[in-house]
Amino acid sequence: MDDVFGEESAFYSKAEDYWKQVSPTVDGMLGGYGSISSIDINGSKKFLQKFIGEGQGKTGTGFALDCGAGIGRISKRLLLPLFRTVDLVDVTQEFLDKAKVYLGDDSKRVENYFCCGLQDFQPQPGRYDVIWIQWVIGHLTDEHLVEFLRRCQGGLRAGGLIVIKDNVAYEGVVPDEVDSSVCRDLPLLHRLVQQAGLGIVCEEQQLNFPEEIYQVWTLALR
Ligand SMILES: C[S@@+](CC[C@H](N)C(=O)[O-])C[C@H]1O[C@@H](n2cnc3c(N)ncnc32)[C@H](O)[C@@H]1O
Repeated sequence: MDDVFGEESAFYSKAEDYWKQVSPTVDGMLGGYGSISSIDINGSKKFLQKFIGEGQGKTGTGFALDCGAGIGRISKRLLLPLFRTVDLVDVTQEFLDKAKVYLGDDSKRVENYFCCGLQDFQPQPGRYDVIWIQWVIGHLTDEHLVEFLRRCQGGLRAGGLIVIKDNVAYEGVVPDEVDSSVCRDLPLLHRLVQQAGLGIVCEEQQLNFPEEIYQVWTLALR
């Protein structure tokens, strides 16, 4: 394994331990930046609306998968309003338990709450119109990220789309010892996407975030 990740099983178990002690709130999901959630969701909505709809080449609105979903912050305000059925996957059971309450009435349209690390998760082949992966890829090693993206490609329906929205480093790979993750620069992310056999349909930087945090980029892949 690459040095930056250290020993693989410790890289994953330290992250699991970290998230177990985070409060199951929007602020907890966003490392104390709960106040940027609306800007984030509105930016995502604008991005996604370019692709979804009826007709040739459009992405359907049947099924979405929220990866590293946490308490369902994105499912609640982005995916459930746009898609008929949503599945959530996250490694932290406490967050998924909270999601069942946090999503309120709309939780009726959640079919599955999968408690699983993305490094082990196998999306059902051909099920999803959109697979949304936000603020979680830094918890996967390069190899596991590539393999996960390949499995996601197999999980798409015709016209389906994978979306990664995440922090991007200015240069190289920046490890975070606190939550046991890494932040990659854009050229490396591009290489991993390419290794997974995916193409970039569109990529955009999220604007209007605080200056002191990492740049955040959204990539649509298929
Ligand atoms: C920064 S939070 C983001 C939550 C959500 N995506 C959002 O934007 O509100 C990171 C989430 O990733 C989950 N997580 C961490 N490592 C994971 C892994 N290997 N597989 C799946 N989920 C993981 C954590 O439990 C946590 O819910």
